[in-house]
Amino acid sequence: MVPNAPRRDFLKSTLAITLAGGPFGAVAAAGARSALRSGPNGKLAIAKIACGGMGQSDLGQLASHAGVSIVGLCDIDRNTLDQVGKDDKGNDPFKDVPKFQDWREMLAKLGDKIDAVCISTPDHSHAIASMKAMEMGKHVYTQKPLARSAGENRMLADAAKAKPSLVTQMGTQRSATAERRLAYELVRNGAIGKIKAMHAWTDRPAGWWPSGKPRAEGSDPVPAHVAWDIWLGPAPARPYKKDLYHAFNWRGTRDFGTGAFGDMACHIVDMPYYALGLTHPTEITCDAPDGTDDQYPNVETVRMKFAANERTAADGIEFIWYDGGRLPDFKSLGLPETLAPSDRKEKDAHGCLPLPKDGAVILVGEGGVLVIPIQWQLPFAFVDGKRKDFDNPHKTTNHWHDWVDACMGQGKARAPFELAGLMCESLAIGAVASRYPGKTLVYDAASFAFKGHADSTTHLKPTWRTGW
Ligand SMILES: NC(=O)c1ccc[n+]([C@@H]2O[C@H](COP(=O)([O-])OP(=O)(O)OC[C@H]3O[C@@H](n4cnc5c(N)ncnc54)[C@H](O)[C@@H]3O)[C@@H](O)[C@H]2O)c1
Repeated sequence: MVPNAPRRDFLKSTLAITLAGGPFGAVAAAGARSALRSGPNGKLAIAKIACGGMGQSDLGQLASHAGVSIVGLCDIDRNTLDQVGKDDKGNDPFKDVPKFQDWREMLAKLGDKIDAVCISTPDHSHAIASMKAMEMGKHVYTQKPLARSAGENRMLADAAKAKPSLVTQMGTQRSATAERRLAYELVRNGAIGKIKAMHAWTDRPAGWWPSGKPRAEGSDPVPAHVAWDIWLGPAPARPYKKDLYHAFNWRGTRDFGTGAFGDMACHIVDMPYYALGLTHPTEITCDAPDGTDDQYPNVETVRMKFAANERTAADGIEFIWYDGGRLPDFKSLGLPETLAPSDRKEKDAHGCLPLPKDGAVILVGEGGVLVIPIQWQLPFAFVDGKRKDFDNPHKTTNHWHDWVDACMGQGKARAPFELAGLMCESLAIGAVASRYPGKTLVYDAASFAFKGHADSTTHLKPTWRTGW
């Protein structure tokens, strides 16, 4: 067991730091770093927390960097741990790497042998494991969304700010693609003037994971290969239920995931969010028919207002999020209706394919409309009903390798916690609003509370189970 006391002191001190300075200062801060390398032959020694699901991709990508040595592997699922890295012929690149079911034991035992940690657990364990790693002076790569609750996101952003020598990065790998780099630049340089509104969607969760149901009753026997108590981690204890939480299906349960908004918006709105320099929403309203106390809704529209800044219209910007099959009204936004997601394979009269069901952003500016698909397509604009394309001078890089390079003193991480935490705090606020459909919540970022609504404020703050 890792002792708790020093972590609590660290949390206390980092929570006291404000988010002043805005997101662009944060990128600069991420540039300062130490270049620890404890692995064999001067390699960056990485410990991997969670090796199944996305953790498997993260591990493969990190291990493919010539400067990386994987020195510890952890997963609560013994079957996953036994199989990790093995190919069909039984070759095992990690046969000599120590393996653990409890990440606290791994960090305590490996200690100074680790330079960096990559965390790909379900969302509810991101913050506690990331904080522990940062407290130990490790660089950290944590999957998206950065953390489950608003408070945890702010805590991680503040902790990263307090330790600029650590290289932190959220696992939004699309942000390193040439297409999304161009999107950032277009918004940043005012390609369609000042922005009045941002619309974005995803087709999740419908059919992807369980949502909109009351808490399941009863329990199932915990399989011998699953360490259920460690899976629960800092979340309130509840009985194991087969196939309902572990693996993958935890996303729609409020104690563990962040619903469709938190899960997908990080990949979809990150570039415009960062480029516009958005901070915290001031007002949030969610329209959702079927959320429950236990699970997020199957379908929702979340509206958020942000105060004006130099890149927005004079009265600020509204961000409208749609999921579960809802979409913006393309025509009223000045776009052809043929852009709406569909299975059409041919281009329309404007040369456009339907936008992805996975998601896209539509930015409404004073000088046109900018469309930013989640991936695989370049952003494009519509100005006075005509399509406008942009040259793309950017190159795609490998998000994982960018982080490794930055840990070793080269370049900088593209989604450092200071930036990612700010955006994910807003997404987590949207998740709270889905508990109060139809009610407009007024958010005061400085006091970290919803004004005049103590009940919703309780859902902002992280609560970790006793002993964690
Ligand atoms: N960047 C992306 O494109 C992308 C894609 C999918 C998932 N994700 C993110 O990755 C994270 C994991 O999602 P997933 O779909 O892989 O989930 P999953 O449930 O399918 O897999 C999680 C893995 O973590 C292990 N695990 C769970 N709790 C653990 C703990 N406390 N310590 C160690 N191991 C633990 C599980 O056994 C499993 O192997 C989520 O935060 C999710 O949002 C990102």
